[in-house]
Amino acid sequence: KMNKFIADLMQKMTLEEKIGQLNLVSVGFDVTGPVVSKDVDANIRKGNVGAVLNTYTPVAARKLQELAVKESRLHIPLIFGYDVIHGHRTIFPIPLGVASSWDLTAIERSARIAAEEAAADGINWVYSPMVDIARDPRWGRIAEGGGEDPYLGAQIARVMVRGYQGTDMSKPTSVMACLKHFALYGAAEAGRDYNTTDMSLVRMYNEYLPPYKAAIDAGVGSVMSSFNDINGIPATANKWLMTDLLRGQWGFKGFVATDYTAINEMTAHGMGNDAQVSALALNAGIDQDMVGEIFLKNLVQNLKDGTVKQEQIDLACRRVLEAKYILGLFKDPYRAVTDKRAKATMMNKQFIADARDISRKSLVLLKNDKNTLPLKKSGTIALIGPLANRQRDMIGNWSGAGDWKQAVSVEQGLKNVAGNAVKVVYAQGANVTDDEQMIARLNAHGGELNIDKRSPEAMIQEAVQVAQGADVVVAVVGESQGMTGEAASRADIGLPGQQLELLKALKKTGKPLVLVLMNGRPLTLSWEDKNAGAILETWFAGSQAGNAIADVLFGNYNPSGKITATFPQTVGQVPLYYNHKNTGRPYAGVALDKYKSRYMDFSNDPLYPFGYGLSYTTFTYGKPELSTTTLSPNATLDVKVTVQNTGNYDGEEVAQLYIRDMVGSISRPVKELKGFQKVMLKKGESRTLTFKLTPDDLKFYNTDLKFVSEPGDFQVFVGGNSRDVQTAAFKLTE
Ligand code: IFM
Repeated sequence: KMNKFIADLMQKMTLEEKIGQLNLVSVGFDVTGPVVSKDVDANIRKGNVGAVLNTYTPVAARKLQELAVKESRLHIPLIFGYDVIHGHRTIFPIPLGVASSWDLTAIERSARIAAEEAAADGINWVYSPMVDIARDPRWGRIAEGGGEDPYLGAQIARVMVRGYQGTDMSKPTSVMACLKHFALYGAAEAGRDYNTTDMSLVRMYNEYLPPYKAAIDAGVGSVMSSFNDINGIPATANKWLMTDLLRGQWGFKGFVATDYTAINEMTAHGMGNDAQVSALALNAGIDQDMVGEIFLKNLVQNLKDGTVKQEQIDLACRRVLEAKYILGLFKDPYRAVTDKRAKATMMNKQFIADARDISRKSLVLLKNDKNTLPLKKSGTIALIGPLANRQRDMIGNWSGAGDWKQAVSVEQGLKNVAGNAVKVVYAQGANVTDDEQMIARLNAHGGELNIDKRSPEAMIQEAVQVAQGADVVVAVVGESQGMTGEAASRADIGLPGQQLELLKALKKTGKPLVLVLMNGRPLTLSWEDKNAGAILETWFAGSQAGNAIADVLFGNYNPSGKITATFPQTVGQVPLYYNHKNTGRPYAGVALDKYKSRYMDFSNDPLYPFGYGLSYTTFTYGKPELSTTTLSPNATLDVKVTVQNTGNYDGEEVAQLYIRDMVGSISRPVKELKGFQKVMLKKGESRTLTFKLTPDDLKFYNTDLKFVSEPGDFQVFVGGNSRDVQTAAFKLTE
């Protein structure tokens, strides 16, 4: 039915109208590159626009849609795209935060709520999930993905696609997801945004591609090309990537849009002039040009010159029209959007309650010496720090439609949860940064920073005085939201500005010191780890952040998050990730061992390993028991492990299973995550968990890029993080 409908429609289309479908314009709010889109209304009438980004609200979307369906010759509806990344109106923690929940149901729920709100706001296409594996915390966009692990990343990709798209994208409560950034954007050299990626195919297939593939397998409707080049060819011109791999090997049937002006940027990459890069992109398999208007301006001439073929234009046009058909836009271009529906949907009670819960699940307790936390609901808290009473920062970046004025700050959250039982006294203590240029840049992009012009010494002294009169210090420090995300790479990933000086002064007061961190990347926190009584990593936890943080600080919720990106001790260790190779000279911690793969001035160890996070209770793991020590090709191996809650609180634990392939035709990582279970255990309770491993779980891509498992010895590790594990061994037989 769809094929016939589209074939009939395309019969009527002129070349220009077909090219129009390949044009995605930006109208509205968020500008992340040059402003190109002009005369949009006129262009929509002419049939020169296939999709719009950055326009939402029932009124604004309807206005443009009416132009398309009432005033263009063939009445073809528009697609409305937007960066709905971690919520639309109800904002959830940044993706690195929700990933830390290891709770796939919660993650899917966050995507579903985002879809319902976005769809009610006139949006039908969201630029998420972002599944770029990132091992370099200097890269600001590490905040936008699930962290460093391909297995976890793949699970997250799958549930997010399902959350957004549901089972039928034509339903007016669903939206089409856009998988991004294809591909390998997270491997940008030196963590500098938009930078080069150069990688062996074996590494790509085994370590970076699995989350993209999982999203494709889950039926994602569209894909966005990434800005970076890959082994010398920008992703946007990369035919191997966009056609051979994506469509040929993986069977993707949807459409591919570029990132913002990514075709134009290929001239800077050194790929040729506008006409040349236009042809390169189309021939590579790109279907829609985001904002750059390169296709619009060049494809007719490209066709005349013979650098592109009519079939390729037709193919791209058909893919865009198919997406519109799948979204049900030809039947109802407005997708039942009304003011009434929007009002009933946005930030409704249930969504807010879910957001608070999802935020709590995303927080990670990094340290808790001598039960510093939870706090008593009595006495005086000195609430210190530049982020302690912030609302703007709570919702993080890429939260364009989120109203930060409705976000709950930590200060407000403490009051909401503890009421009058606790006295909260506040001092800012430091600015989040004192770098004038950075402040100007952050404010120019909606940072809303409130910079105190007093000297750092005066601010610190005031904070110390406040601390001296309190029972406990809660210091809310970290990054402002705009210090992470796109174009927000940092070469130094410590606490910015005078915040460390502030903490040092607070430490000297001798009061218990609790750090509440807000940041979008692993930070280097060696001093903080040594000196704070407790550290709670809260990322940018969304609309309900302050309430969720207070729930954890006061023990109404027992923290259960685990980090999904390694925290290094120093930026010099970066990239540091748990699933590294062993090397021929692994360092085993013997100080005098010189000729080993090590640093002279630092250990190889992270500060906090992948999968790490504490609870107010403790969990003890028994030795893993295997159902067999020889796994044959069609069999399943059960790995049983008993986990006991040995502390004083009920709590949730993320039990993790890793393997190591001891001998391979290519060198294999020292550990690879292959399973996890998040379980609630009552105080004193113990439960035996069963993980199932099949030979499929042991497969990897060999040098011929064949996905194989190889007979031989394997180790299995089970534990509460990637470092503290118990080990068993088995053999995979022929
Ligand atoms: O979706 C984003 C992308 O992640 C970065 N460049 C702009 C796009 C659309 O806003």
